[in-house]
Amino acid sequence: MAEPLSDIGLTGLAVMGQNLALNIADHGFRVSVHNRTTATMEKFVAENPSTPGGLAGYAGLKDFVASLKRPRKIIIMVKAGAPTDAVIDQLVPLLEPGDIIIDGGNSNWNDTIRRERDLKAKGIRFIGSGVSGGEEGARFGPSLMPGGEYEAYKEIEPIWTAIAAKVDAATGKPLTGAKPGQPVQGGVPCCTYIGPNGAGHYVKMCHNGIEYGDMQLICEAYWILTHVLGMTAPQCSEVFAEWNRGVLDSFLIEITADILQQKDPYTGGYLVDCILDTAGQKGTGKWTSVNALDMGVPANTIAESVFARFMSAIKEERVAASKVLQGPAAAKFDGDRKQFLEAIHDALYSSKICSYAQGFQLMREAQKEYNWTLKFGEIAMIWRGGCIIRARFLQKIKEAFDRDANLPNLLLDPYFKSEIDRCQTNWRRVVAEAALRGVPVPAFSSALAYYDGYRSERLPANLLQGQRDFFGAHTFERTDRPRGKFFHIDWPEPSRPIIEV
Ligand SMILES: NC(=O)c1ccc[n+]([C@@H]2O[C@H](COP(=O)([O-])OP(=O)(O)OC[C@H]3O[C@@H](n4cnc5c(N)ncnc54)[C@H](OP(=O)(O)O)[C@@H]3O)[C@@H](O)[C@H]2O)c1
Repeated sequence: MAEPLSDIGLTGLAVMGQNLALNIADHGFRVSVHNRTTATMEKFVAENPSTPGGLAGYAGLKDFVASLKRPRKIIIMVKAGAPTDAVIDQLVPLLEPGDIIIDGGNSNWNDTIRRERDLKAKGIRFIGSGVSGGEEGARFGPSLMPGGEYEAYKEIEPIWTAIAAKVDAATGKPLTGAKPGQPVQGGVPCCTYIGPNGAGHYVKMCHNGIEYGDMQLICEAYWILTHVLGMTAPQCSEVFAEWNRGVLDSFLIEITADILQQKDPYTGGYLVDCILDTAGQKGTGKWTSVNALDMGVPANTIAESVFARFMSAIKEERVAASKVLQGPAAAKFDGDRKQFLEAIHDALYSSKICSYAQGFQLMREAQKEYNWTLKFGEIAMIWRGGCIIRARFLQKIKEAFDRDANLPNLLLDPYFKSEIDRCQTNWRRVVAEAALRGVPVPAFSSALAYYDGYRSERLPANLLQGQRDFFGAHTFERTDRPRGKFFHIDWPEPSRPIIEV
């Protein structure tokens, strides 16, 4: 008897592809699988003989494509960049008009825009879908950010919403407890159509930029706990566990508490104290920051988080500099420890609000640049489960955009405004204390600078425009004339006449 046709195909069976294929099969969909190295595919299929939907392995792309129901839906889960283009090029001659290629890798949104355009010209539909949550998310429910032609998305929507992470409709908390073959039942899927062409991959990139910010801010809180309050790793773990019961409740705070209490099997001490302080990165935080620079959006906390990783990476140079450069002498903290602990919490929370405000401000600008209409409340909603930044806090962001879909900045929402009002004295105290003690807190302090800059009616850019006009005749606008009228001083002239340009 002929094999039944599969609902969807997936090529690229590394860690993400395998887990995503199993997740899809767990929801009763039959999945054809393929991998460049056939042995990987054969081993994978042999190890998973009885999933609810079934896996069917194919060594060649021709048979793989022929095994799919029309319109064919093929997920690519290979290394982002040139390998994705190579796989698309191999698939195209085997496809028919109307078939759909879905790129689930961490592709740059500009590549997705290009691929969607090129494939459309060939009659092939293309979805660029952000997939967040790493290995665990792919297996039991990622946060999914699909972008492309809406009708093409509708074809994959039943599968995409089935495999996505689910949150409780009332609380927004992730539904947990999925096991192989037994996905969670009910709940609201962390998946929504994001917009045309590269919108899904763009929003996924912003998610990662915000993730960089969250991680750096947590690390700075840990550093202050350690270097101002003198806490040990397990003591810090208790603090984070406590914070995870309040407004900071999130996956990253939860794993931080866990990491900090992990013993080191080699030394018997705490593992975190044995991990070398040089951070790696795969580039999405950098893309977010470069894009913020390109678009002129002040996403300084996100960018500082990337720079902080670069600073950590020059370890040998820092070790040498530490022997030469001086800072304040270490002094015992003699203030009220309980109050200062609360202040660190508030500094972390306020900085986090600013970091998210920057991420959403960036997406707001991008939608103008790329002609998308992004639904920010829905984006916050699909980040409540499955992904790395999942947090209780995102429910509040969703509510803020429910109150005002065109909110220019999260800081202007009444809830977030009142939260910052409540926390800002503590926030300032922590940044000041860290500065006085020489403890580096680039993300805390850049978030505070962002807040103070954003709320400033006037900034010293008046002098800056004067400087630009002096050396480059760049002109300036005046406070007492309408916007758009430009003036220039003829600086070299002894009488320095003012000229209306
Ligand atoms: N790992 C994560 O946590 C995570 C999270 C979200 C998104 N992603 C994204 O998901 C995608 C897959 O990630 P991953 O970590 O599972 O795998 P990966 O290490 O990024 O890529 C390995 C896969 O790509 C295939 N591949 C590489 N070059 C190829 C080429 N020229 N032609 C055909 N196939 C090629 C490999 O096939 P062979 O077996 O033949 O070498 C293998 O299946 C990536 O875009 C990644 O950025 C990863």
